[in-house]
Amino acid sequence: MTEFKPLVFSGVQPTGNLHLGNYLGAIRKFVALQENNDCIYCVVDLHALTAQLVHEDMATQIRSITAAFLAAGIDPKKHIVFNQSQVPQHAELAWIFNCVARIGWMNRMTQFKDKAGKDREQASLGLYAYPSLMAADILVYRATHVPVGEDQKQHLELARDIAMKFNMDFADKIRPTGLGIDIKVGDEPVHAYFPMVEPLIDGPAPRVMSLKDGTKKMSKSDPSDLSRINLMDDQDAISKKIRKAKTDPDALPSETEGLKGRPEADNLVGIFAALADKSKADVLAEFGGQQFSVFKPALIELAVDVLAPINAEMRRLMEDPAHIDAVLRDGGERARARAEKTMNEVRDIIGFVR
Ligand code: TRP
Repeated sequence: MTEFKPLVFSGVQPTGNLHLGNYLGAIRKFVALQENNDCIYCVVDLHALTAQLVHEDMATQIRSITAAFLAAGIDPKKHIVFNQSQVPQHAELAWIFNCVARIGWMNRMTQFKDKAGKDREQASLGLYAYPSLMAADILVYRATHVPVGEDQKQHLELARDIAMKFNMDFADKIRPTGLGIDIKVGDEPVHAYFPMVEPLIDGPAPRVMSLKDGTKKMSKSDPSDLSRINLMDDQDAISKKIRKAKTDPDALPSETEGLKGRPEADNLVGIFAALADKSKADVLAEFGGQQFSVFKPALIELAVDVLAPINAEMRRLMEDPAHIDAVLRDGGERARARAEKTMNEVRDIIGFVR
């Protein structure tokens, strides 16, 4: 074998309401990838403790992300959908990776610096070690492809560094087990137990910005609910938020060039394009020269068309938490079997007695 078997893994934290940016940026990609790939999608509840320890509604949050996965069309029978805490092997491999990763590597993580803020001494040790757990999430299945947003790229590079160091440091122990694969990293031949994960970043996903400020990302932590479209918003809420979305007084341009310096127009055109699965140029070919008073109603109709069925299905699923829990339990069981196989191999490579 000269290549790892392709396997897609991704995770979403059960914190805050999912919004349009999460749907277009992540969940819709997950749905598309399941057509031609073996996929594992995880609600990363252990990660949710890193920034805030106590969550009033942890179980509801976990179920709501799961409901969004299912409502968007992820098939939990063909693939695996589960919550991270049901598979303790993630935390176990993360410990080993804590001993592989170097403190200097962690100190470079920009997300830690952002999230820890000024008072770094008060950040949890978990927040600091978070990228090591993320690497373990992926590598405990020896997954090869990870759909994520741009903001997670640095964490995936760290996952590659961890995999590489493990492969190199244990090379002499991996070879006799027959568990490794000869791969090339750049031009360098490496006998690898863990694959070099590839981010899947491009694709149809636009950067979805706030409806109130086209220069800020759409975010669950924005104090104004009018700044985002939540997946749980009904038709009335969607239409109100788009009607009230910030714009400028000019008509839409007919070329994408004309969106430069018009962040709000650019954002709404980008959202339309993503929802319709078209390019911004296509959208402008249709709406160039039109006022927002014409464009906004069309965007409302499209957004409601795409999101209302997902919204209805999420609500239906949330009324049957026992069903959601059964899906997670089944996924957890299948994930655990795969993860335990990896852990046994890792234990053998390290030389732990079992
Ligand atoms: N860190 C990711 C985020 O905040 C979530 C995550 C955790 C993840 N583990 C993962 C994403 C593994 C991809 C693969 O968005």
